[in-house]
Amino acid sequence: MAPNTADPLIRLAPLLPEHLAPCLALDQAALGGLWNEAQWSNELADLKRPGLGLWRAETLVAFACGLVVLDELQITTVAVAPELRRQGLGRQVVGSLLMEARRLGARQATLEVASDNTSALALYGQLGFSTAGIRRGYYRSGSDALIQWAEIRD
Ligand SMILES: CC(C)(COP(=O)(O)OP(=O)(O)OC[C@H]1O[C@@H](n2cnc3c(N)ncnc32)[C@H](O)[C@@H]1OP(=O)(O)O)[C@@H](O)C(=O)NCCC(=O)NCCS
Repeated sequence: MAPNTADPLIRLAPLLPEHLAPCLALDQAALGGLWNEAQWSNELADLKRPGLGLWRAETLVAFACGLVVLDELQITTVAVAPELRRQGLGRQVVGSLLMEARRLGARQATLEVASDNTSALALYGQLGFSTAGIRRGYYRSGSDALIQWAEIRD
């Protein structure tokens, strides 16, 4: 049976410094290596930067990380393993990060996404985000960055 959010093998857990290698591996597989080892080490060690992972057995299959500044969660990275996409894991891990950030005092959330990243935009739309601004030609590819914003509700 295809794994989904009801899959008993899928487990949500905070990302910790000892998860450096799985984070680097998933970053490479899902994002082409967005962050290097030093950036991931900082991310995992900083308590102001909540990060959550979904594990399938011993494999990290999704993550969502952010930075809480006053009452705002700035989401910095989100990814799901390519072979497990479209099964609700993105919604589960980002939704859980929003709830964790709320527990830490955040009442709103923001992130940037490329205007041609239709899957991510659809995911964020489902979670209540809408476009609050645009940075034209922000990415190396030439595409625009859309600034997404959402209120975090209970
Ligand atoms: C964006 C990403 C995290 C989505 O993860 P996912 O686990 O596939 O998403 P989900 O299965 O939870 O999808 C939730 C909703 O998002 C939308 N969505 C997700 N993928 C989609 C796609 N390929 N096409 C259209 N809508 C899509 C749908 O509305 C979906 O709900 P539905 O399946 O009930 O229709 C994943 O595609 C990914 O890792 N992409 C590469 C990294 C990336 O772009 N990260 C975001 C950077 S800002």
